[in-house]
Amino acid sequence: MCGIVGYVGERQACPVIIKGLHRLEYRGYDSAGVALVTPDGGLNLYKCKGKVSDLERFLDGKQPTGTIGIGHTRWATHGEPNDVNAHPHFSASGNIALIHNGIIENFRVLKDALVQHGFTFRSSTDSEVLVNLIEYIRDTNGCTLEEAVRMALKQVVGAYAIAVIERGNTSQIIAAKQSSPMAIGIGKGEFFLSSDAASIIDYTQDFVYLGDGEVAVINKNKPLRIMNLGGKESPVDIQKLELSISQLEKGGYPHFMLKEIHEQPDTLVDCIRGRVNPDTREIILSGVLDHREKFLGAGRIIFVACGTSWHASLIGEHLIESMCRIPVEVEYASEFRYRNPIIRKDDVVIAVSQSGETADTLAAVEMARSAGAFVYGICNVVGSSIARATHSGTYIHVGPEIGVASTKAFTGQVTVMAMLALVIGRLKGTLGEDKYHEVAGALLELPQTMKEVLKTADQVADLAKIFTYAHNFIYLGRGYNYPTALEGALKLKEISYIHAEGLPAAEMKHGPIALIDAEMPTVAIATQDHTYEKTLSNIEEIKARGGKIIAIVSKGDRLARRCADYCIEVPVTAECLMPVISSVPLQLLAYYIATYKGRSVDQPRNLAKSVTVE
Ligand code: M6R
Repeated sequence: MCGIVGYVGERQACPVIIKGLHRLEYRGYDSAGVALVTPDGGLNLYKCKGKVSDLERFLDGKQPTGTIGIGHTRWATHGEPNDVNAHPHFSASGNIALIHNGIIENFRVLKDALVQHGFTFRSSTDSEVLVNLIEYIRDTNGCTLEEAVRMALKQVVGAYAIAVIERGNTSQIIAAKQSSPMAIGIGKGEFFLSSDAASIIDYTQDFVYLGDGEVAVINKNKPLRIMNLGGKESPVDIQKLELSISQLEKGGYPHFMLKEIHEQPDTLVDCIRGRVNPDTREIILSGVLDHREKFLGAGRIIFVACGTSWHASLIGEHLIESMCRIPVEVEYASEFRYRNPIIRKDDVVIAVSQSGETADTLAAVEMARSAGAFVYGICNVVGSSIARATHSGTYIHVGPEIGVASTKAFTGQVTVMAMLALVIGRLKGTLGEDKYHEVAGALLELPQTMKEVLKTADQVADLAKIFTYAHNFIYLGRGYNYPTALEGALKLKEISYIHAEGLPAAEMKHGPIALIDAEMPTVAIATQDHTYEKTLSNIEEIKARGGKIIAIVSKGDRLARRCADYCIEVPVTAECLMPVISSVPLQLLAYYIATYKGRSVDQPRNLAKSVTVE
């Protein structure tokens, strides 16, 4: 979704902003722009439809100067992607420039009122309404920009992260946020602004994360001030972000997605490190243990998540129900938040989100909190909105995930869920010691098992060549591997644009088997678990109808080979951890099919990495 970068200090702002915008490209966008205040106080605007590289070409020869500026990548919500709708937006007089991430829900009402006051609009965006509202308030009240921003935001309904600069002011940016992320990087005599702190890690590791309803007055000559919309100031809480620049680069891989798939042995080490004692197999998850009474007393656990995180949550359901004997429900956050669900005080709500910024998941967290439930987060991005909005949580610690298709976050999420289930199951006494030690031992071996499964990459690449022609795919699995099938289908859809459907294998007979013919390949996950034989029967039924089958099977498997056209052998781990391993050939299959089709793997069409608007 939209990305925001800002700078004020002594450097030339434009190169800093462009670099930050490049780092935000992973979020998905369709246009880009920059506004700068020149040393003599002029306010200049440069923006165009397309990529940040198009903006760079547009800027070429224009010598954009200024040590203060704001930049934006836009993912269209109101108004088509074009030069005019691109951000920043000028106010009617051209004296104020604004960038905005989010949606102003009451923009029509505000716009009508401004039209009555004689304002005209160039774009069809909700954001241009806000910059004009700020200007109208400033001019009619004769107040400062900071006051006008606060007064304008009191009238706004919706989500926003904004940054505003004004003609004649070479030292100050006003920023504010509500339900969209905004981090302020603190340098020496300079400040940075971004919707993702990682994008400005080249310059500083010290960040202030704006809270909802907060406004920041960022002046290069003064200490940072944070206040609410009423102007009441609050202390500035500076946090360190431990991240290296190499984590944000491709490291020799052609795409971030391939790098992130191959990083998984290391990301699992980081996820497990310090949590599972290799000698005693004791698991320490402080986010759980510090609140053990909430988990042990839970009448129900409700997962709220979207996309891949929702698939991981389905695996969490299996893990928790089988090990902890607590009833679990898995909800799409977008449905949960609008359904008036029954939330009890003894419910534990687990919000799962890689980015920690998904608007629907964040709203579900807020709803669960206000209903009195205990809310626990499983996030990747440290300091993200969901991580901060939950009562406690566990980071998956898999490092920045930049490819739009989630890979290492999925395996990290499942790994954390397995640790959580083991801890609670043991404390509750619903999980036998033998089982505990078996799974904890398998967890410790997971990075090595992951290394093994990655050796299938060449074989999967060859298979992908054979199946690049397909227009549709079916993915099947049972038990723990049913969510893996859903995840495999999602990976293929989002980066190759091939239609794919994930199903529980036994559901085929209830309708979807009618789709089977020689043109409809099936990817069946048939590893040796307690539903193995049944899955084989399901595969036979597809075979009997002329369907082509790619089977993901356990190492040394003999039976599946007889009915599948192609088999990919994966190493064996504990049954409940199998999705961590069996998902990997599916990630690779989607990746290679997409590259053979020439797709934009890391930034697929229409998609954004973090969905910060609903
Ligand atoms: O950051 P989140 O985990 O909350 O994101 C949820 C989904 O938007 C995300 O998983 C999406 O489905 C991915 N593109 C899937 O690869």
